[in-house]
Amino acid sequence: MSPAREIPFPGCHMSFPLAVLVSGGGSNLQSILDKIDSGALPAEVRVVLSNKPDAYGLTRARERGIPAVALPHADFPTRAAFDAEMVRVINEHGVDAKAGAVVLAGFMRMLTPEFLRAFPQRVVNIHPALLPSFPGTHGARDAADYGVRLAGCTVHFVDEIMDHGPVIIQAAVPALPGEGGDALAARILALEHCIYPQAIGWLAQGRLAIEGRHVRLTAPAAPAAAPLASWGGAERPYLVSPGLEPGFLPR
Ligand code: GAR
Repeated sequence: MSPAREIPFPGCHMSFPLAVLVSGGGSNLQSILDKIDSGALPAEVRVVLSNKPDAYGLTRARERGIPAVALPHADFPTRAAFDAEMVRVINEHGVDAKAGAVVLAGFMRMLTPEFLRAFPQRVVNIHPALLPSFPGTHGARDAADYGVRLAGCTVHFVDEIMDHGPVIIQAAVPALPGEGGDALAARILALEHCIYPQAIGWLAQGRLAIEGRHVRLTAPAAPAAAPLASWGGAERPYLVSPGLEPGFLPR
């Protein structure tokens, strides 16, 4: 096993700076903002960027007074030029190789190695499937079409391969017979809104270490707060690992 790479986040920040990248509705961005408001997530969204000027995620940011930057990727001659401008904007808002994290929340573009090198071990993504199954742009629908009986979502560190980096947390739900992709995706999305803020909270607290493909979660100050897994009730069953901590459970 490769040696543990402790992620050098200095303890629990009251305002761990985040840059959030969106391409669409931004409901995951909203869940992050809601957990910040509730006091569960010690972070601050410094900037929201989108490659789609009409992404509703940008509107959500503007309505809260958060800088919202549209960078249409077609305006740039190369992928490298687009990513370089994103790095510049993100750095300008206080997220860099030493501070904070880049959060992909429905951002539907691959990032260049140069982008990832600008934020080493500080770029995370959420995907609506139990990776490594069903990577790509329609994870939940692909799982439903395949006929799986368990589906779910994954938060992972981002590497140079799509939907591939070390897994931080996964949540599973049963796929119901006859259920279409849209219904399954909606039930998965509700869990995305729990596991993504939770994973970002662990990152903000400096509690994640990457060991090869494995991510080690260190114990919280109060160990009783970290169950290994949580089951929902009979009406809304789900399984999540590592377990959600207080403040991040589904309502
Ligand atoms: C989410 O379901 C997210 O998991 C998915 O896009 C959706 C964005 O929704 N991401 C991917 O498929 C990445 N491969 P949102 O804009 O409402 O947060």
